[in-house]
Amino acid sequence: MKRTMLAALGLATGFALPAAAEDIKVGLLLPFSGVYAALGNDIEAGFNLAIEQFGSETKATFEIVREDTEVKPPVALGKAKKLILQDNVDLIAGIVSSGVLGAVRDMVHGAGVPLIVANAGNDEATGADCSPYITRMSFSNSQINRPMGTWMHEQGIGKVFTLAPDYAAGRQMIDAFTASFIAAGGEVVGQEFTPFQKTQDFGPYLAQAKASGADAVYVFYAGGEAISFVKQYDSFGLKADLPLYGSGFLTSALYVNAEGPAAEGVITALHYVPTIDTDANRVFAEAFTAATGRVPSEYAVQGYDAARALIEATKTGASDRETLANALRQVSFEGPRGTLSIDPATNNVVQPIYVYETVAGENGLTQKVLAQLPAETDPANGCVMPPIAN
Ligand code: PHB
Repeated sequence: MKRTMLAALGLATGFALPAAAEDIKVGLLLPFSGVYAALGNDIEAGFNLAIEQFGSETKATFEIVREDTEVKPPVALGKAKKLILQDNVDLIAGIVSSGVLGAVRDMVHGAGVPLIVANAGNDEATGADCSPYITRMSFSNSQINRPMGTWMHEQGIGKVFTLAPDYAAGRQMIDAFTASFIAAGGEVVGQEFTPFQKTQDFGPYLAQAKASGADAVYVFYAGGEAISFVKQYDSFGLKADLPLYGSGFLTSALYVNAEGPAAEGVITALHYVPTIDTDANRVFAEAFTAATGRVPSEYAVQGYDAARALIEATKTGASDRETLANALRQVSFEGPRGTLSIDPATNNVVQPIYVYETVAGENGLTQKVLAQLPAETDPANGCVMPPIAN
């Protein structure tokens, strides 16, 4: 529209005008309060860093409107509506909780607003509820946990007890892990889901795990809940007899030093660790630390890669909701995690998974990579990708 008007002006006045810069309005929908507030801040820091580093590669400029989900699905839905209907954003990026993603999915799909998911792993969003408007640059819940079931059984672990918060992400992560662990020949001897954002004392669950006869405990916790859980697990005296495993958000670089020695020896799996030994990761990690004073976490990388995907999409000339949605699904670039691409069958990112142990390093706790498991493409999980409506 803006381009057409300027082009018309150019013709009328007889002057050749340079191509107009498109201003893209981005709604950044993240938790800036609640148990995942630190995650939202790290995603935003990564997002801003990529705009700063790569923004000059595109003619587009970006205007960002921030909204706080508070990790509450109804609040997040209200904020998504405001961004779409009132602010008239061209695109939304962010979303940390699978519950929030489930709540806003129909709104963004129905309105035809592209959404770059920068964390929430909800399997449905790139499965049965997939949408050509939803592109995920982070991970899916099953993508992270499925390879761990097989790997742990290969390490000689026969029986596990599982724990996770009782909401979509907790259930999907544990389901994916237990399915592959059982398929490999393992046994799940007990399983509990703890009230999400409400559990302060994990003692009763830890007592159950101890009495279960398991060889190991496998969990998903993130943010504030991860810090409490890891500390309580250690002070309960379980770590020596009942090793702790999980998805790697449990010991994220973002807050592992708040967990302290309690996190040492915990073995987990994730799509990014700051110790990945590549030039692209070293350059990113240095820039992120210079900007924030922190080691980059998976959350920081997800924000960084979400903004890079947006920049790559605009480099093709995409500028409105429809063309952006189309271009986002086709982005591919070399990032701190390696070469990233989007699976056209689901719009989920394809990436390898790292198994890592949290160990003491020179400057606090660090991540020792034990195994790199092959690039994980999710099965379609019921996704029949609808065409983009005109
Ligand atoms: C999710 O709700 O999908 C979720 C939240 C925090 C994480 C990972 C996944 O660290």
